[in-house]
Amino acid sequence: MYDGFAQYYDAVMGAPTARLERLAEFVADYGPTGGRALELGCGTGLLLEHLQPDFECSGLDSSPSMLEIAGRRCPAASLYLADMTNFRIGGAFDVIYSLFDTLNHVSPVERWSDVFRLAAEHLRVGGLLVFDVNTRTRLADLSRAEPWSLEVDGARVVLDVTQADSSTDIFEFHIDVSPPGEREPFSEVVPELAVGLEEIEARLHPWFSVLARVDEAGLPAGEISGHVYYACRRR
Ligand SMILES: C[S@@+](CC[C@H](N)C(=O)[O-])C[C@H]1O[C@@H](n2cnc3c(N)ncnc32)[C@H](O)[C@@H]1O
Repeated sequence: MYDGFAQYYDAVMGAPTARLERLAEFVADYGPTGGRALELGCGTGLLLEHLQPDFECSGLDSSPSMLEIAGRRCPAASLYLADMTNFRIGGAFDVIYSLFDTLNHVSPVERWSDVFRLAAEHLRVGGLLVFDVNTRTRLADLSRAEPWSLEVDGARVVLDVTQADSSTDIFEFHIDVSPPGEREPFSEVVPELAVGLEEIEARLHPWFSVLARVDEAGLPAGEISGHVYYACRRR
């Protein structure tokens, strides 16, 4: 997952404006505004780069190719090739965050509890957990939309979201890349799991209090919001 596609990721996804705004707002509202920060699923380091002036940054990701780009972008960050459902990093963090629907990549849903438990174990008491999710509403909308296609560095990238059948909570992001010249086309499939907000909050409950649940615009979010951002306090 995210291996061949890593080199196109930044250009296809664009500037991380909305998620950075939500993260900055949560950190300003609920603190701390400095200390140690850890990103779960840090990808190419787009967000770590922005936190670096204020935080001592660490990131983990399961894709070596994404992590390699993050290493070039954020040479001062501590980076780990690791699975967010099963990792151990020394010391306590002040902020742990996981953005751009990274948690949706984790399935089955029982493993979301592993992520929350590990986040709790790696945060100091009172520390902040920030994450976002694509809701079922958004994933279903995407699966009904036409495939989306764009040119990046001479390559054609086509993105199509499908749902295997209407009884499943798994949606698949099919990424087809036709590189320029003689290079072979390749495809990757990134699955995303839809999980209801009530279930997410029940799984957070053993370790976290929910401080805020907002949509892309920073307004109170619900199941019909496309994208939901959570700020949670480690009890
Ligand atoms: C949509 S990207 C988000 C990257 C970054 N957070 C951002 O905002 O640009 C999801 C990232 O999560 C990583 N990922 C997916 N499942 C993971 C897992 N179980 N453990 C660690 N990283 C994972 C992928 O390799 C990918 O880099």
